[in-house]
Amino acid sequence: MAMKGMSMAKQTTTTLVGTIHPDVLAFTVGQDPILDLELAEWDCLGTAAHVATLARLRVRPAIIRPDEVRQVTRALAELREEARAGRFVIETADQDVHLAIERLLTTRLGDVGRRVHTGRSRNDQVAVDIRLHAREQLSELLRETTGLAEALLRFARRHERLPMVGRTHLQPAMPSSVGLWAAGYAEALLDDLLTVEAAYAYADRCPLGSAAGYGVPLPLDRAYTAKVLGFAAPHQNVIYASNARGKCESIILSALGQVMLTLSRLSEDLILYSMPEFGYFVLPPELCTGSSIMPQKYNPDVLELIRAKTACVLGQGAAAAGIVKGLAGGYNRDLQETKALYLEGLRTTRASVRIMQLLTTSLAVNPARLRAGFTPGVFATDRALQLVAGGMPFRDAYQHVRSHLDELETMDPDVAWAAKTGACGTADVAVAPLRRRVAEVAQRARRRQQATHRAFARLLGVRR
Ligand code: ARG
Repeated sequence: MAMKGMSMAKQTTTTLVGTIHPDVLAFTVGQDPILDLELAEWDCLGTAAHVATLARLRVRPAIIRPDEVRQVTRALAELREEARAGRFVIETADQDVHLAIERLLTTRLGDVGRRVHTGRSRNDQVAVDIRLHAREQLSELLRETTGLAEALLRFARRHERLPMVGRTHLQPAMPSSVGLWAAGYAEALLDDLLTVEAAYAYADRCPLGSAAGYGVPLPLDRAYTAKVLGFAAPHQNVIYASNARGKCESIILSALGQVMLTLSRLSEDLILYSMPEFGYFVLPPELCTGSSIMPQKYNPDVLELIRAKTACVLGQGAAAAGIVKGLAGGYNRDLQETKALYLEGLRTTRASVRIMQLLTTSLAVNPARLRAGFTPGVFATDRALQLVAGGMPFRDAYQHVRSHLDELETMDPDVAWAAKTGACGTADVAVAPLRRRVAEVAQRARRRQQATHRAFARLLGVRR
């Protein structure tokens, strides 16, 4: 359609929701036709729940009849399968997955497809899609990260009695062990997963029915909608349901950032301790990469990339929070930009956790090099404490050892760390309680995931 006197707006593209200059359409749609493919299966579920809710309304004439609900649900179940098989296509004119599904339902079913959007908005649609997606993804992340923690604990158990120099400022500090080092990272991950489970709980609210953020003049049973999607509850306040978009993504990204921070420090330790100069750990050659010029090279690229990707995930979290920070209440298109950050952060974190598990399970140790790291200075504090045991005040013992450092004898590292027992010791790595925690987190995640899958199967009428 040509507009008189406006040379810029000569061409237009007609969409379901307006006729738009193609450049404006392309700019505003951005990456959505690609990114939204990941949301397609969840949009099918959200739509099925909305349609089921519409059918329960006691309004005459009915917006959607029970037989039509079955018809739409069947079509949505098919579309969901197509999306899962990677056969779903979003056209630019669709703008996003939400309008694509409405178009497809209308093409396949006719008039009833034109009714599914009654009483909802793309704002509550995308919000529910992301939360459905997040619950599944976070469940998978919990499974993968508990797998990594378990692998670290197996490594800790295997090398429980292997001495390793403990360092501060990277300088040799005190006797420690490989078991203590590895179990420390497992416990770190377990604590990080507390934030992931909190992010899951944040995501476990259903915004559907909040529509554009102000509800609709239809008595939608939002508790029912939430229940059929397996959510813990609906958002109570519809304005908040809308404002939580972006905040949810930001909270998830900050939890992912914590997991990545742990992986990054573990990576740095592994890079350092597998250097020939240390030689404590050995990465198998097939997990390293070579050089195009230097034939001798086996480089720890995986670990370097995890270290860099950690900065990216933290940056994605900062960007998401930054987008939300200055927004007036109610939907603003700015929020669309949080989607790519969220999806990318999740993908990166999950991939990093998985590859770190591969590295952990294949990591070898070099006991001779680990023992060789024990210079006499490593025993200085132990020596001071021996003097304390003989009755000397600690500060005097410290001064004495400090002024006789060259007389320090190298103790047997196996004996030195074995002497440190109890809750602050290195000898008792206490793998068992950490293993129990790993099992508990994994079981909680599995149960939540199974419950949501059961809800989806019921909603779509799939027999399992
Ligand atoms: N693709 C959009 C997004 O991700 C969907 C919501 C559009 N809503 C709107 N009022 N324009 O935010």
